[in-house]
Amino acid sequence: MAEEILGIDVGGSGIKGAPVNVQTGELTGERLRIKTPQPATPEAMTDTMAEIAKHFNWKGKIGVGFPAVVKQGTMYTAANVDPSWIGTNGQALIEKKTGCPVSIINDADAAGLAELRFGAGKGKMGSVMMITLGTGIGVGYYVDGRLVPNTELGHLIVDGKDIETRASAGVREKKDLSWKKWGKLLTEYFQELERLLWPDLFIIGGGVSDEFDKLAPYIEIQTPIVPAQMLNLAGIVGAALAAEGEIGRKRGVKDA
Ligand code: BGC
Repeated sequence: MAEEILGIDVGGSGIKGAPVNVQTGELTGERLRIKTPQPATPEAMTDTMAEIAKHFNWKGKIGVGFPAVVKQGTMYTAANVDPSWIGTNGQALIEKKTGCPVSIINDADAAGLAELRFGAGKGKMGSVMMITLGTGIGVGYYVDGRLVPNTELGHLIVDGKDIETRASAGVREKKDLSWKKWGKLLTEYFQELERLLWPDLFIIGGGVSDEFDKLAPYIEIQTPIVPAQMLNLAGIVGAALAAEGEIGRKRGVKDA
């Protein structure tokens, strides 16, 4: 029987969850979205995650995609959530509140796993960059299908400033940037990524993925660039996929 895992995608504005069939990448229940509590502290946010698990009456594995550097369950950064997340073991906290085994990885890393398995990056070898444009800018980087975790290239300094503070979808909304202006900023950013890493494919995720044709004419780069196919579900599905292989296994540097 196909394994089902509860995928939870944590964002700066919403926390979304649904059970996922990890063989097919399909949701087996309707997605639930709850507003990210403010302040976005570990206690408040993990209460929301537990509420999602309770809603689905969940007893099995849970995979979480979280907007920070995550190593062995612990957060090392907190760009768009409360700084008290730094040093917190999110995995242990969610396990305590849900009673379920939990695996937690970076949100963009998770979204790319789903696109590589089922979406715009299916079967792609070489180096693929999944870029999520949301409250922040997230990057998942894959080489021949394998994830290089926690790259945090959404904080690249372009023109003297952290690019996330100039070109995220959140900033675009706040400043009401036109497609042309946003495209110009993103072009600068993608060109910098090209100059340093020479990827073979960019996949663009986040809300813009379903109106990518409006942005595309203003992106001037040499690397092929395509919108994510799983739209706003990639984060949930990818979080579940990551949990499939990770629960019960330790992450990080291992002895040979
Ligand atoms: C965080 C990343 C995250 C991205 C997208 C950034 O602010 O530093 O870890 O992947 O936002 O949510």
